[in-house]
Amino acid sequence: MQQVNLGIIGRGTVGGGVYQAIQRNGALMASRLGIRFNVAKVAVRNIKKARSVRIPASILTADWESIVRDPQIDLLLELIGGTTTARTIVLRALEAGKPVITANKALLSAHGEELFAVAQQYGTNLYYEASVAGGIPIIKVLREGLIGNRITRIYGIVNGTCNYILTRMKFEGAEFDEVLADAQRLGYAEAEPSLDIDGHDALHKIGILASLAHGFWVNPKQIYVEGIRSISRLDIQFASQLGYTIKLLGIVKKLEANAPGKASAKKCSPIQVSVYPTLVPNSHVLASVNHVFNAIYVRGDVVGDTLYYGRGAGQDATASAVLSDLADAALDLKCGSKSRIPPFVPHECDGAVLAMDDVVSRYYVRLTVIDKPGTLAKIAAILGQSKIGISSVIQPEGHEGESVPLILMIHDAPNSAMTKALRKISRLPVVKAEPKMIRVESFE
Ligand code: HSE
Repeated sequence: MQQVNLGIIGRGTVGGGVYQAIQRNGALMASRLGIRFNVAKVAVRNIKKARSVRIPASILTADWESIVRDPQIDLLLELIGGTTTARTIVLRALEAGKPVITANKALLSAHGEELFAVAQQYGTNLYYEASVAGGIPIIKVLREGLIGNRITRIYGIVNGTCNYILTRMKFEGAEFDEVLADAQRLGYAEAEPSLDIDGHDALHKIGILASLAHGFWVNPKQIYVEGIRSISRLDIQFASQLGYTIKLLGIVKKLEANAPGKASAKKCSPIQVSVYPTLVPNSHVLASVNHVFNAIYVRGDVVGDTLYYGRGAGQDATASAVLSDLADAALDLKCGSKSRIPPFVPHECDGAVLAMDDVVSRYYVRLTVIDKPGTLAKIAAILGQSKIGISSVIQPEGHEGESVPLILMIHDAPNSAMTKALRKISRLPVVKAEPKMIRVESFE
């Protein structure tokens, strides 16, 4: 039986998990693929450091470069995370003609364009199933399963930490800070939580999916991002009263041909690529994706709507995705195929990201206002002048002259018009706090 020799860089949670998964299911994979995996070397920063996953000392090394140089090693797995040393490792390996598997979304987000170009230049391949949504094989779905489709929509709950926090806020009526502190205590959120709760981790992932679905490299700087820090218990309660659940969604939308920046023969209509908290109708399946689970909803022009659900993080989910890449990479080696499906081939026309100002959405707005005659009229006048329509209003009964929440549901409006109108509204003397605006998704 053919053998593929692996060099693993990193034995942290992911590296250790992959090593363990190969020990557990390597023989099963060999029987399915006709290829045996041999972990030849594992590079670690500190050989002496004790780890829960035991790896024989004979295959440990502190010198990752020796793995890249070793002609016996067929395939390299970069599992250290970070964007500096990881970039150097991946580049060196690709330049040496070795295929690379990575689980590193931050690396791909920051340097993907360069790394995929180098892989192509050196006639080898970069595999990245574990970089998005852990155990959900979404890269394979977009690369292969749906290859006969134009992808018109992707909606992803791709950050488990945020989903866990929002789920507990909803079910327990708790405030954000309380749940975050608890999530940190339980190990669901990092001590420095900003990568997750400010939406950057979701941005990395949604950028990778957008690039893959639309055939051009989406620069992370062009992706609009808002995290969940400012979501309050009140917003979750009002959303619930209106029949919605708040989720942090990564959204990739191909605009219709008559939308702003429309398509021409050479230029595709622009793509909305963004990450923000969203009111999801309770009748939509994504509203029921709870706790640390991820889900990705993909619409193709042939297949229609599809849904992928599973654990987005954790040792085993990530290891499962890396095993899938191992199988692909080994089959490519066996069959001598360098680049079966190039990672980001241009599609039918040149793509571009839609400017956030032009993104059209419905909105939930929570204002804190003084309950007195004329308040609603002043607010409605500003919205009316901006050609923005109100679809419903809730104001809990309060006491005249005191401050009350005023909830407005707003019809479709461009982001620029909406933000300008809210700026004007916030300057009204009857408005007592910064307006809160959350977009509402209808999944049309
Ligand atoms: N921190 C991520 C999450 C997992 O909470 O989903 C790694 O991407």
